[in-house]
Amino acid sequence: MKTQILKKKIVKIFHKYGLSKNHSSISADALINAELVGAYGHGLSRLKMYCDRISKNVINSKAKIKIKKISQSITHVDGNNSIGFVAADTAIKIAINNAKKTGIGLVAVKNSGHYGLSGYYAEQAVKKKLMVMVFTNAPPAVAPHGALKSLFGTNPICFGTPTGSKIPFILDTSISMINRGKIRVAAREGGKIPEGVALDKFGKPTTDPKKALEGVQLPIAGFRGSGLAWMVDILSGVFTGGNHAGRVKDPFTDFSGPQNIGHLFFAMKPNLFVGNNFNKRIKDNIKKIKKLPKIKGVKEILYPGQNKFNRYKNNLKKEIKISKNILNDLNILLK
Ligand SMILES: NC(=O)c1ccc[n+]([C@@H]2O[C@H](COP(=O)([O-])OP(=O)(O)OC[C@H]3O[C@@H](n4cnc5c(N)ncnc54)[C@H](O)[C@@H]3O)[C@@H](O)[C@H]2O)c1
Repeated sequence: MKTQILKKKIVKIFHKYGLSKNHSSISADALINAELVGAYGHGLSRLKMYCDRISKNVINSKAKIKIKKISQSITHVDGNNSIGFVAADTAIKIAINNAKKTGIGLVAVKNSGHYGLSGYYAEQAVKKKLMVMVFTNAPPAVAPHGALKSLFGTNPICFGTPTGSKIPFILDTSISMINRGKIRVAAREGGKIPEGVALDKFGKPTTDPKKALEGVQLPIAGFRGSGLAWMVDILSGVFTGGNHAGRVKDPFTDFSGPQNIGHLFFAMKPNLFVGNNFNKRIKDNIKKIKKLPKIKGVKEILYPGQNKFNRYKNNLKKEIKISKNILNDLNILLK
């Protein structure tokens, strides 16, 4: 389906469910971007879930976002349980403005919901020539190191910087071996997941996505990944006023209340310490790394974000492929 036609359909659906035209458009753009970068687990496969949550009043379709300025650099945003895209869009724009004015923009968000891809917000800051860090917590999926029960979300860690070229450096990674969205898509489409990424509810390794969803996902690098997940929970939950310590509700299965997810956006001017030399220094850094001798079969050493940028550019030229299941959702939601 052509991107513009798809956007119109998504906006129509969200608007029908009570979101303003502006909020519907912000949300549609985020979902379409996820499809274009190939992050299908955070794209259209979630549209029905958002609509279900709006119908059940656990996403506030009429959210009035509250903005509390703490200093020229620091702002606290209360999302009023809006759809996560809208609270996050508000917050990154404030972080960018604060950083442009003072060098640093720190924005904490509470009472938000699932906002999709951290990198989508990081890119907005990098396009404005800023460095950025973005954190969000997520519902329980990963067991803390040594624990028998999931508590941490797949809590992505995201860092972005201008590179002096048109392709931004965006490291945007879950702390789990694979992100939960991919497992959900595999469960829905009848696929399998790779070995070594999840255990079933009895603690046995599994490649069955349904069993993985009932069990636990494994963190990257054992206790190190578990520590990173914990750090993200503190920064985006404890610090912001959002839910933390496993209290974020699963958006697909728990409609007993809003998620109250927390996010943290931290934007910085790259010239703070080295002035205009930053551009030269970052180019030198990337060039040095790219020139290293390569392992057999590797054509180019990529920096984080390069692969997604290339995918996005290629996909922009094509129509967006929509699976039968999702097309079915779209048609039902449009009725
Ligand atoms: N909102 C939420 O609750 C939530 C939770 C988890 C994940 N997510 C999002 O899901 C998305 C996918 O996460 P993921 O962990 O599956 O990402 P991924 O594994 O696809 O990529 C992780 C990072 O590695 C980089 N990368 C990939 N291949 C590379 C290569 N060959 N060389 C160099 N770098 C390479 C990517 O550019 C990216 O920055 C992210 O955008 C994340 O923010 C959201």
